[in-house]
Amino acid sequence: MSLTIAVVKERGAHERRVAVSPETVKKLVAMGCVVRIEAGAGEGASFTDHLFAEAGGTIVDDAAQACKGAQIVLAVQTPDIEILPKGALLIGMLAPYQNTDRIQALAAQGVDAFSMELVPRITRAQAMDVLSSQSNLAGYKSVLDAAEHFTRAFPMMMTAAGTIPPARVFVMGAGVAGLQAIATARRLGAIVSATDVRLAAKEQVQSLGATFVMVEDEETRQAETSGGYAKEMSEAYKAKQAALIEETIRKQDIVITTALIPGRPAPKLVTEAMVKSMKPGSVIVDLAVEQGGNCVLSKPGKTVEVGGVKIIGHRNVPGRLATDASALYAKNLLNFLGLVVDKKTGDLAINWDDEIIKAVTLTRGGVAVHPQFGGASPEKSDEKTSEKSEKSEKKAAS
Ligand code: NAI
Repeated sequence: MSLTIAVVKERGAHERRVAVSPETVKKLVAMGCVVRIEAGAGEGASFTDHLFAEAGGTIVDDAAQACKGAQIVLAVQTPDIEILPKGALLIGMLAPYQNTDRIQALAAQGVDAFSMELVPRITRAQAMDVLSSQSNLAGYKSVLDAAEHFTRAFPMMMTAAGTIPPARVFVMGAGVAGLQAIATARRLGAIVSATDVRLAAKEQVQSLGATFVMVEDEETRQAETSGGYAKEMSEAYKAKQAALIEETIRKQDIVITTALIPGRPAPKLVTEAMVKSMKPGSVIVDLAVEQGGNCVLSKPGKTVEVGGVKIIGHRNVPGRLATDASALYAKNLLNFLGLVVDKKTGDLAINWDDEIIKAVTLTRGGVAVHPQFGGASPEKSDEKTSEKSEKSEKKAAS
């Protein structure tokens, strides 16, 4: 029997993306799957029902009809949990750090939930890396958002009426989003500098033609986790970094902040005094605003103006480029499905011991299983069981 994959219309505020594209629907159908899509699911990304139907998708009236009897549900954010069929796989960006209570609800519903943000940063998983595909677009869009509010040009222009100096752009956090912001600002002709706490970022920043600004000390040699992410820095480092940023920021026209630490609030890097030191007309774009913000004055979904400096805090920046963001996300999911569906038989075939599967599984068989999000790792539960049996053996002996 062929697998039924359900795709529901996203219901989260500010969410315009969808979990499949006409291209991925076509590929899934070619694999022998039935793809049931809620009508209007692709509207925000300009993927019409007609395009999905042409690709072989089955359009149904509502989310409940899409999900009924489905073995797999594909989503961008967590859908209504009550409509998910017991025993189905849910694959999406389930925001486990923010939604710990929903993990228990997914377990109670009997859904096996996979959270795509937890895909490890290993070579084999690169094509499934949703954080990268979405952050890359966010980094690009952040520069365009800054340009929209900036009342000057980015490149140097020499005209008969005089010379326009190039804009100075400072990018804080040189991960996936930051590097794309640097590349975009450079393409527009700005003079770009960037900072990070990971020393590995230095070469990447410089290879894009930007200047690297950083406090380099013993701590920065260990600032990167084995997974490639930044650690939270010490108070002493933060003070040194703040002094350097203070010095740098007042010479900038545009600041793009992208600094994140997984599972922690975003580091506060731009203080009120720093904002006030910038020239009127300057623009700050805070891409970390939904994780608490890198700038103390930014507000989610708002543009705040302080002393003539605009601080932009758009929510869901990848969703502002919904067509490309959906197309790349859909491709990430299609690649992940390669680990879940047997290409020859078209049946579910999950290797629960696979490193990637293990990293993303939040719930399985009615219980939370991820050691970081309310579950015990199999090893730990084995340890606990053997501890228990040791204790009971000792009790019995005494
Ligand atoms: P992220 O979104 O977690 O953070 C953004 C950037 O902010 C990072 O570069 C981080 O070092 C920086 N940051 C954190 N705290 C900071 C602070 N206090 N001051 C200044 N900067 C700060 O990171 P993202 O973009 O997800 O990348 C994380 C790492 O993963 C990078 O090393 C990247 O090269 C690597 N990566 C590896 C991939 C692979 O091998 N498959 C794919 C994508 C990324």
